[in-house]
Amino acid sequence: MDRHITLGEFIIENQKDFPYAKGELSALLSSIRLAGKVVNQQINKAGLAEILGKAGKENVQGETQAKLDIMANEVFISTLKNRGEICGLASEELEDFLAFDEDMHKDAKYVVLIDPLDGSSNIDVDITVGTIFSIYRRKSEPGTKVTMEDFLQPGDKQIAAGYLIYGTSTILVYTTGNGVNGFTFDPGIGSFFLSHPQMKFPEKGNIYSVNEGNYVHFPAGVKKYIKWVQQIDENDGRPFTSRYTGSLVADFHRNMLLGGIYLYPQGTTSPNGKLRLLYECNPMAFLTEQAGGKASDGFRRILELQPEELHERVPFFCGNKEMVEKAEDFLKTSG
Ligand code: AHG
Ligand code: MN
Ligand code: MN
Ligand code: MN
Repeated sequence: MDRHITLGEFIIENQKDFPYAKGELSALLSSIRLAGKVVNQQINKAGLAEILGKAGKENVQGETQAKLDIMANEVFISTLKNRGEICGLASEELEDFLAFDEDMHKDAKYVVLIDPLDGSSNIDVDITVGTIFSIYRRKSEPGTKVTMEDFLQPGDKQIAAGYLIYGTSTILVYTTGNGVNGFTFDPGIGSFFLSHPQMKFPEKGNIYSVNEGNYVHFPAGVKKYIKWVQQIDENDGRPFTSRYTGSLVADFHRNMLLGGIYLYPQGTTSPNGKLRLLYECNPMAFLTEQAGGKASDGFRRILELQPEELHERVPFFCGNKEMVEKAEDFLKTSG
């Protein structure tokens, strides 16, 4: 990899594309970069620093929080709060949103929604995890306290979105609506370098990512789609390959690079699936579309859904356009 362009340089060079508040959005993206570096370092030494394992508490989702869920949440909150570019933040790990209303935040125009640590179940077994973020411009007047309305905006209002993947390398991938770019972290130098310019789903894909243990609960259309991907057809490379880590970030990143579909459908015991619209599906859907793919709930475009609650869940199908459309066809005809 040529170490030509750092993430910092790229953000500044491309801020001309931002519709407004150029300097502030650049500063906000830089804050996310900084928090990502801190979380990356903590994750890398987790086994030594004794911060693996459960924290003994549950979050609002009813999930047991891992120590690293809490640590990553705190790092992102403190880093973003202390730099004053945002007036509010919502997180998977917090029941309510936070309103920042100290003097330093009075001109802040942005709110951030985050999944601080995605793939928590993989932390203790040394499998890739991530962080997902989503940025909106506030709807309420600057200088006033943020309201729920500032957070419950449809995904097509996102100003920027992205993720950090803490894998064999740590990579930050983001979009501001002008394509998707990925930056690999060089730990020796302490900087992210442009390694994946203008990321696009390949034309064709042959990977499907789904928790097939839930098969019995899936709608008939999804069951038929799964059977279809497992049939032999040399024309489109079937049977497809199954790959599923249990970290959305890892499954998404692989599918965007190699071509594939990620599914977390509704089930008989989970009518809206598992993934959260605001801080998992919307940012991934924004990235998906910017990379030439498609993201839907099986019927409707994710980015047009009007959120009703901070932690609402939604069935999620995303990846190569053609593959998602095929799954949608099965849902349309079989329900
Ligand atoms: P989180 O760790 O942020 O709670 O997210 C977990 C999500 C997502 O990363 C993953 O794709 C999915 O849950 C896995 O769920 P299953 O274990 O039900 O397959
Ligand atoms: Mn969780
Ligand atoms: Mn998650
Ligand atoms: Mn999480």
